[in-house]
Amino acid sequence: MKKFLTAILFAPVLAFAAGATLHLDSAPDKATDMAALQNGAKIFVNYCLNCHSASYMRYNRLKDIGLSDAQIKDNLLFTADKVGEPMKLAMQRAEAKAWFGAAPPDLSVIARARASEHGSGADWLYTYLRTFYRDENRPTGWNNVVFENVGMPHVLWELQGEQVMGADHKLQLVKPGKMKPQEFDAAIGDLVAYLKYMGEPVAEFRKKLGVIVLIFLAVLFVFAYALKREYWKDIHKLLFLYVNAYYGASRNERATRPQSGA
Ligand code: HEC
Repeated sequence: MKKFLTAILFAPVLAFAAGATLHLDSAPDKATDMAALQNGAKIFVNYCLNCHSASYMRYNRLKDIGLSDAQIKDNLLFTADKVGEPMKLAMQRAEAKAWFGAAPPDLSVIARARASEHGSGADWLYTYLRTFYRDENRPTGWNNVVFENVGMPHVLWELQGEQVMGADHKLQLVKPGKMKPQEFDAAIGDLVAYLKYMGEPVAEFRKKLGVIVLIFLAVLFVFAYALKREYWKDIHKLLFLYVNAYYGASRNERATRPQSGA
């Protein structure tokens, strides 16, 4: 019985501990790095938009990260005719499901959807996109450390090379890719920054606006406080006269009253 009670008592702790084994690498913060965001957008359009859409993201929103209409049209517009269109894809969902076993989800807000107690959505994406490894038991030939038995193939394998899972449960690069590991990590950092940006394009503006609102409230406080003092000055004066009229008189009386026994 005692054992049973102890088990119940510690069950939540153990459950938490079991879940906490997922280790995520922290994604570099490139939210204000325009060159990184532009590179991320380029990688996204070239390598991800074949299968994933980003239907809440319009191409012309890319002007926010420093691209011109002409640049968007010439370099990035593969799945639409006009810059005002959203990032849709040519492939049908049903076809994709038949090919990969699971339909590739829309990635507009993936960086927010993947946030958990293990880390931010960006951390999850940064880890996910760098931890594909060879697994002959999977139909695509690939598996993933943070998304076990994932239906997505390692679409960036030419850049990263091929990793295998070692006996020590660590990934080993067995065939180098076009990029050195640091270069690949940097490219994924850019891509993740872009995915995060898509989830909330106004995030940087929101933070700036928050600071402006706080400064405004601080200035407002100074004036409001000065006004309050001005008003209360009169009220204090009145209160003083009132208190004096009622109690001051009796106190004076008391002071001049002869001491008893004198
Ligand atoms: C060949 C098609 C294909 C390409 C190209 C592709 N993906 Fe995927 N992706 C998939 C499929 C299929 C899934 C669903 C996997 C599953 O649920 O098992 C997926 C899942 C994902 C997920 C996990 C979504 C979730 O369920 O939380 C992320 C994140 C993702 N892809 C990002 C990317 C990024 C970034 C790129 C570009 C570098 C990319 N994908 C390119 C097919 C693709």
